[in-house]
Amino acid sequence: MSWLEFADVYYRYPGQERYALDGLTVTFPGGENIALIGRNGAGKSTLFLHCNGLYRPDAGEVRFAGRPLVYDRKSLKALRQHVGVVFQNADEQLFSASVAQDISFGPFNLGLTEPEVRRRVRMAAELCEVVDMLERPTHALSGGEKARVALAGVLAMDPDILISDELMANLDPWGRRRIFDIFKRLHQRGKTIVLATHDLNVVRRWATYVVVMAGGRAAFAGSPDDLLANQAVLAETGLAQVWFDEI
Ligand SMILES: Nc1ncnc2c1ncn2[C@@H]1O[C@H](COP(=O)(O)OP(=O)(O)O)[C@@H](O)[C@H]1O
Ligand SMILES: [Mg+2]
Repeated sequence: MSWLEFADVYYRYPGQERYALDGLTVTFPGGENIALIGRNGAGKSTLFLHCNGLYRPDAGEVRFAGRPLVYDRKSLKALRQHVGVVFQNADEQLFSASVAQDISFGPFNLGLTEPEVRRRVRMAAELCEVVDMLERPTHALSGGEKARVALAGVLAMDPDILISDELMANLDPWGRRRIFDIFKRLHQRGKTIVLATHDLNVVRRWATYVVVMAGGRAAFAGSPDDLLANQAVLAETGLAQVWFDEI
């Protein structure tokens, strides 16, 4: 099982005064369902962009399975077979003419043989229940279908760690349900899943581990029960107010 670690990571966007990651130290343990929570601007998306080496820290280290990331092309290509990231807007991740082409893009770029690419596409399409839309153009899909196709494209790389940045924010409850069904199957296969979410129910009922981001750092990392019992962290991060206050 694979895990990811951030060790005292700093990252500042060009021209910005504040650090988006401001001394972030946190571990995402292997095989867990991990919920990443924190208000807008806390640094969740910036963290995700570091997980597969798309961004590089100004200082500090990101480690995969104990080894620091190496930022040359070859190493990053190898890393991305282990760490798959689905970004916030699934739409932006789809750019091919057909669903099948889109899902095969990743494995094809790995230089796999054609039968192996087809096998991977089939596997991912079945897992994400998009087999019946493989020949359809991606622009003609519903939001839920697009999300599942984006997920299939990443899963076709067969990563150990799946990182998903608010994939479900725009989906209806039925669409969300189907994504969690996919996550359940991945969890059974020993995969590590990291999901950015604002939903307390996801924390309570799905997560086995929670990381709370605040101001570019991890304010908490641990079990959902420990978080819900930690009055100090709940107060300090404003979570108590948004989760438990009556309207
Ligand atoms: N492309 C960007 N250019 C400049 N600043 C950015 C950019 N993206 C994010 N930021 C800033 O970095 C901080 C962290 O943002 P982000 O990682 O998107 O947080 P979250 O995903 O938790 O909402 C915020 O202060 C945000 O304004
Ligand atoms: Mg974000």
